[in-house]
Amino acid sequence: MESMTDPGPVSTDDSPRRRRFFRWVTYALGGLATAVVGLPFVGYLVGAKRAPKAWVNLGRVDDFSAGETRLVTFDNPLRQPWDGMAAHTGVYVRREEPTDGEPDRFLIFAVNCAHLGCPVAWFPQSGLFMCPCHGGVYYANGERASGPPPRGLFACDWRVRGGRLEVQAPHYPTLQDTEKHSV
Ligand code: FES
Repeated sequence: MESMTDPGPVSTDDSPRRRRFFRWVTYALGGLATAVVGLPFVGYLVGAKRAPKAWVNLGRVDDFSAGETRLVTFDNPLRQPWDGMAAHTGVYVRREEPTDGEPDRFLIFAVNCAHLGCPVAWFPQSGLFMCPCHGGVYYANGERASGPPPRGLFACDWRVRGGRLEVQAPHYPTLQDTEKHSV
């Protein structure tokens, strides 16, 4: 019959060293995980601040009559080689009646429907924007009138410089955009 041999007392000399080693491994892995999760967010913040901006000249302010809505087309100055025809875009410009403190008042909308982005058409007879894709309808002030769009038309930033109306481009509408704003 085979006898069990006593292995003797187990040495614990290296336990503190092993604990220290695993603690540092844990710190290192924690730091690595933080970097992996945090760097894209930091990159987003830095990238968002550096987003290019360009102003497009839409013509002389006096060329727009109060109460009139007009489509103005232009080539996006920040176009990419692969944009193709999509780089030729436009906005609807509506000049509002001047007030005492504000001689130049405009509503400028992206042509894209707030539903799935089809270009909307302006019908002066009815005073409505209509989307040919799914029947979305908007009032002259850009508010949603009916159909599937979840909101009104997307408003664009604009400014007047030296008697000329300028709009900021490119304008990629998102649902986070404000209803309307001006510079
Ligand atoms: S894209 Fe305009 S209603 Fe759907």
